[in-house]
Amino acid sequence: MNQQLTKILILGAGGREHALAWKLKQSKHPHALFVAPGNAGTAAVATNVPIDVTDFLQIKHFCVENEIDMVVVGPELPLVEGITDFFHHDTMLQKIAVIGPTQKGAMLEGSKAFAKAFMQRHHIPTAAYLAVKANQIDEGLRFLDTLKSPFVLKADGLASGKGVVILDTLDEAKAELQAMLEGKFGKASDVVVIEEFLQGIELSVFVLTDGKNYQLLPSAKDYKRIGVGDTGPNTGGMGAVSPVVFADKLFFDKVKEQIILPTIQGLIDEHIDYKGFIFLGLMNVAGNPFVIEYNVRLGDPETECILPRIKSDFFDVLQACADGRLDQIQVETDERVAVTVMLVSEGYPGEYRKGRLIEGLNQVSDCAVFHAGTSFDIATEKVKTAGGRVIAVTALDSSLEMARATAFLNAERIAFQGRYFRTDIGADLLNYKPV
Ligand code: AMP
Ligand code: GLY
Repeated sequence: MNQQLTKILILGAGGREHALAWKLKQSKHPHALFVAPGNAGTAAVATNVPIDVTDFLQIKHFCVENEIDMVVVGPELPLVEGITDFFHHDTMLQKIAVIGPTQKGAMLEGSKAFAKAFMQRHHIPTAAYLAVKANQIDEGLRFLDTLKSPFVLKADGLASGKGVVILDTLDEAKAELQAMLEGKFGKASDVVVIEEFLQGIELSVFVLTDGKNYQLLPSAKDYKRIGVGDTGPNTGGMGAVSPVVFADKLFFDKVKEQIILPTIQGLIDEHIDYKGFIFLGLMNVAGNPFVIEYNVRLGDPETECILPRIKSDFFDVLQACADGRLDQIQVETDERVAVTVMLVSEGYPGEYRKGRLIEGLNQVSDCAVFHAGTSFDIATEKVKTAGGRVIAVTALDSSLEMARATAFLNAERIAFQGRYFRTDIGADLLNYKPV
């Protein structure tokens, strides 16, 4: 094995990127880690670089000057904007391994209509749908007439996680379709996907593919709503649990046969160059998996929950992906249960204040603390809040009960004005009995 110093640049600024940096820092290979732009947490395990994730030219200059070997792309936006193609087409950047699909592959997340048509072409189970533009509104209204309540409407493009609307009555759904096609979500809703509602329990399944082979990473359940008991508005994610008890071997066999293999074969058939993560948002409908959505990156906060359960050297895993050797490695996972609790700012996912002092970060024990929205105030040398989601606390233990107890104990120890977290992460799974 090459023992030279490997230089890795992670793009992003959230808890997912802190977890990636934390995990890669544990690699036995000599390495140097950079995060652009990063946060106060990534600064403790890597070197932060003040570059925006979509500023491709600045990223290029940084990579050339610092002889970067690998770029790991955290969020979807640079992928949808074509960062991987940018690297592949630039003679100065071609040798750098990019973990993340090309722009065409990123359309699986960047365009819901593209993703639905892809699934239809490759016979991948998903909800029945129709995609419509403004001049097809009548077809859309007629399609709504054929569906049962509740009604699911999705803006085609990226809409910061807000582009999915679920409505109870047909009248509301028709009015919403009109509003979306008239630009409610800007260009993102020029096309609207109307979908059949799937009744079931959701989970996030993570796959790393080199475009030919794949490795299944740990799965997680994400808690999306702001309030205890799954109430209130949707957020980026308030916590996660891994593994997912309601997804057994039989279910995963179906996920593999009906979803993962046809997805990878579909990418091959459509000549889509895809080296990176595939995040399958799945609905378990009476034991059968359906794809709710594809994402072309890792989830947040799922990453903070699943990476602590990976025992393998994560640099080896990513290098095998870059080299197209994912069939030759095995990702070792920790049997223990991980629980992640997200500490957020009062008001989130609406408006919230930033710049609040965070205390107690050194009072924690037996857990991993990942910074999501924090900044380091140079004047006071203190860590302050800088986002809606502020800190993710992850505890690993032999049982869900114990992992929850440790995660909540440590969440309590970290304090800032207006701190809020859900106290029921994983509670629904405590008494889960497989049927
Ligand atoms: P997203 O913003 O894309 O993560 O979607 C928001 C949420 O809407 C998903 O996490 C699901 O809970 C729900 N959802 C999306 N599509 C469907 C569907 N076809 N049936 C039921 N729920 C859905
Ligand atoms: N936690 C869901 C996401 O990352 O999209």
